[in-house]
Amino acid sequence: MKPVKKAVIPAAGLGTRFLPATKALAKEMLPIVDKPTIQFIVEEARAAGIEDILIVDGKSKRSIEDHFDSNPELEMALEADGKMEKLKMVQETTDINLYFIRQSKPRGLGDAVLQAKAFVGDEPFVVLLGDDMTRDNVPLTQQLIDQYKKTGESTLAVVKVPHNDTQKYGVIDPMEKVGEDLYQVQQFVEKPNPENAPSDLAIIGRYLLTPEIFEELENTKPGKGGEIQLTDAIDSLNKRQHVYAHEFKGRRYDIGSKIGFLETSIEFGLEHPETGAELKAYIKKIAKDL
Ligand code: G1P
Repeated sequence: MKPVKKAVIPAAGLGTRFLPATKALAKEMLPIVDKPTIQFIVEEARAAGIEDILIVDGKSKRSIEDHFDSNPELEMALEADGKMEKLKMVQETTDINLYFIRQSKPRGLGDAVLQAKAFVGDEPFVVLLGDDMTRDNVPLTQQLIDQYKKTGESTLAVVKVPHNDTQKYGVIDPMEKVGEDLYQVQQFVEKPNPENAPSDLAIIGRYLLTPEIFEELENTKPGKGGEIQLTDAIDSLNKRQHVYAHEFKGRRYDIGSKIGFLETSIEFGLEHPETGAELKAYIKKIAKDL
């Protein structure tokens, strides 16, 4: 069994939910307190032993490449001022094997992942979407890799969502439980209405896929919203080889929505050594007047 060493992060979305902030700025660069969200995603991948990461970006995304590049002027200034911790922080983000490719037209998530075909080659790989941040004792990407080591087949992450929310996600029709938190799946359906949803188990943005997914993606016709859907390609792959669903029980932060983004910012702000105490006092103060 080949080890999982590569990750793909699609980051070509237009970020329309965060306009006007995302008119010129990549939504992946919006910070939770002081760290761009894409850095959290890259760190999760690295914590799972991923060595090479491909970011599939689009127009107005130059800032992502710059963020993970060196910045000699800034580094020299920090060093001259003796700000060694900040220097370390800035240099850490350049010490990663990152690759970039552009998705020239926004044809959907499936098409974005297809851009990674040459990069991935004949290896299993993970896909991490930037709209979900996760936290658990074992990082979610590592949990998927651990399941893969047992089955040798594709596995994606699902969580239970309120029934009315199924139309926001890919949803699974679970067949049977085949291991701890692991389901064999009958069908994968992209964004079903609550009336037709086969379950409340929704796909969150973490997938471990075998390279056979690319053949399926090449044959996938536009689906929901006229876009090439990764969920549809996964459903086809599941007819050839299993695609399992791993139920994630840790903490998930939905940073793709405004309210989720604000909640995450508050939670991380409360934990941050520089802001925690003051933010807590402030929240207590304003809560009295709400
Ligand atoms: C995408 C996928 C969907 C998945 C979701 C998770 O949708 O198409 O199946 O449930 O990510 O975040 P998007 O949120 O890009 O519309």
